[in-house]
Amino acid sequence: MKIFKLLIFVLSIVYQSHSQTTIQWKEQHPGIWKAIVGKPEKITLLSAANAKPNINALSNLPKTSFPLDKPDIKVEIIDHKTYLRFPLEKEEQIFGLGLNFQTVNQRGRILNLHVDHYGGKDNGRTHAPVPFYVSSKGYGVLIDVARYITVYAGTAIRTDAKHPPVLRDRNTDKQWEAQPYSDAIEILIPAEGANIYVFGGPTPMNVVQRYNLMNGGGYLPPKWGLGFTQRVPTLYSQDDILKEVKSFEEHHFPLDFIGVEPGWHSMAYPCTFEWDKSRFPDPKGFLQTLAQKGISANLWLNPFVSPVGSLYPKIKPYTGSHTVWNGIVPDFTMPQARQLFKDHFMKHHLSIGVGGYKIDEVDGFDSWLWPDVATFPSGTTAEQMRQTYGLMVQNMTGSWYKEINKRTYGLVRASNAGASNFPYVIYNDYYSHKDFITALVNSSFIGVLWTPEVRASKTAEEWVRRMQSVCFSPMAMLNAWADGTKPWSFPEVEQAVNDVANLRMQLLPYLYSAFAQYHFEGKPPFRAMNLVEGFGFKSTTEAGTFDATANPYAMTIKKDIKDQYMMGDFVLVAPMFAGEKSRDVYLPQGKWYDFYTGQLVGENQVIKVTPALDKIPLFVKDGGIIPMIPVRQRAPKANETLPLTVRHYGTAPNSLQLYDDDGTSFDYEKGQYSFTKLAVTKTTDGKLRGEIATPPTGKPFGYTKEIKWEFMTSPTN
Ligand code: GAL
Repeated sequence: MKIFKLLIFVLSIVYQSHSQTTIQWKEQHPGIWKAIVGKPEKITLLSAANAKPNINALSNLPKTSFPLDKPDIKVEIIDHKTYLRFPLEKEEQIFGLGLNFQTVNQRGRILNLHVDHYGGKDNGRTHAPVPFYVSSKGYGVLIDVARYITVYAGTAIRTDAKHPPVLRDRNTDKQWEAQPYSDAIEILIPAEGANIYVFGGPTPMNVVQRYNLMNGGGYLPPKWGLGFTQRVPTLYSQDDILKEVKSFEEHHFPLDFIGVEPGWHSMAYPCTFEWDKSRFPDPKGFLQTLAQKGISANLWLNPFVSPVGSLYPKIKPYTGSHTVWNGIVPDFTMPQARQLFKDHFMKHHLSIGVGGYKIDEVDGFDSWLWPDVATFPSGTTAEQMRQTYGLMVQNMTGSWYKEINKRTYGLVRASNAGASNFPYVIYNDYYSHKDFITALVNSSFIGVLWTPEVRASKTAEEWVRRMQSVCFSPMAMLNAWADGTKPWSFPEVEQAVNDVANLRMQLLPYLYSAFAQYHFEGKPPFRAMNLVEGFGFKSTTEAGTFDATANPYAMTIKKDIKDQYMMGDFVLVAPMFAGEKSRDVYLPQGKWYDFYTGQLVGENQVIKVTPALDKIPLFVKDGGIIPMIPVRQRAPKANETLPLTVRHYGTAPNSLQLYDDDGTSFDYEKGQYSFTKLAVTKTTDGKLRGEIATPPTGKPFGYTKEIKWEFMTSPTN
């Protein structure tokens, strides 16, 4: 009997340290299945983000069944860690897995997903290392764990692989590959369990929609958030800022919000969150003066609390074991820490009109941030804290604005899964223009927004090219914190820069409607081409050329389409980069037209374009409908009624739902919004005719009903 008991005991230990678990999938929301494997931790990414699903919108998506063969998904718990395996088919491409800057298709890569500043390599250390991937086959997977997980995205080959690679002899076979074919994604989670989600499609876009809607739908910025923003040098005073605003007016340059950098604090790095009396003697009056001009202010901060600030003694008991620049680190998993921040911020900022925040340094440089050996009073580990801090500060600050029924739109340097509904755009200090565009492409797979901010440039050409792409991004921002650059700093391209900022302002009704799609349908406003139906171009591999020093094994080189994207349903953006006079543009199926001239440029093909310096290449899909307003320096305000010009491109009849609301409050959540159909039909004699539906009565609609229709493409085109 004793021996029997001992055997049971030994077997249970063996079982615990190495157990293959069967996975129970439960349909959590339409087309989204959840499995709880092992013992998931209490703190997860989604619990930190605290997002609420939009059940209604989810149920409007196409019906779909579980997208994978369930037995092909395997899990084992070994040595207190979770080993996960998902199948991969031959032609599958894998998108997402964090905010990557250089690659789009992650198949064949190993990523250790870890919140960090971007260090120049797509290795998983990034501002938003979201453990979510979208397959080109039309399904998605999310691993909801606040740990540094490692993803082998089609790199590892098991002895029991269902589809093993072909055995080749490197001595004689030219097709030998250093990285043979792998039929699985394997994931190592340093925890004894996890919540896993599988998302159905059928299309990759449907997968992304489900992911975003499960997280509350995309954030709808206030209208002013989509205007232009200038961030001023660190030590600017309130008078300097008012002078800056004046010079924007003199240059007729749009300006909706102004970014106030560290100098507003009485001490920064660590921060007091208190106004510096010498530079900002009258913060309330200053904010009021800005508000009278229709301008909002955004305050920079990092959350590390300075010993000389009034928050310090109160929050000390709710902070971690380590300091950052001598500041203490609030444990935001604790309600007490959140409440103290809220009381302080509400009293000193929100109540006097601060429009939002730029939350810096929550991503980290390992040598600055709290180390992984830090401890926190709630018992949350340093690793969990690192993975969720960005989410928590976004959630916390976002909820304050919700409480006062005022929309905000700010900046943050760290995020993770569950962030779709947060009022924040990610930015960083890295400054490769091309990589910034690839980050914009990748942001669309993982429910975050990204700005390719402009700071400085070596040449006028670079300046105008950067300004053009930032004006076609979620936040049109010049971040002049270090050197005080102005949009007109390169006089030779001042007009071109002004033109593109004006064009952004004209396009606000279109852009706002694209953000409404993000909110109500989960479709990202700026989209990777791989999310566009009819985009037939896959990432390709190029045979590597032998080079004794650079490529001695003649390794193949993978090529992604990573420098063009869609803004909304109709506009394809193909930015230009300094030094390049022409570029290739990949056009999806269907006819495409030049935005500026309305002329046909091609369909389902690669075209070469050679744009003038003052034009960012833009193409519109056949049937594209683009509502525009006259050039203006501020985004529309709630009480305005504006004339609309609606452009139509190509020859196809089509329609667009023009979205509107008051532009500033959350009343749209209570039904205070309108969708008004703008339709182009063909009359019996073959002519195109534009028509606007009657806007719903009693709902916000800030446009005159007389519309100027512009048919951009001549019928003979
Ligand atoms: C950096 C941030 C910059 C700027 C600067 C001010 O960390 O990325 O955009 O805000 O701090 O010190």
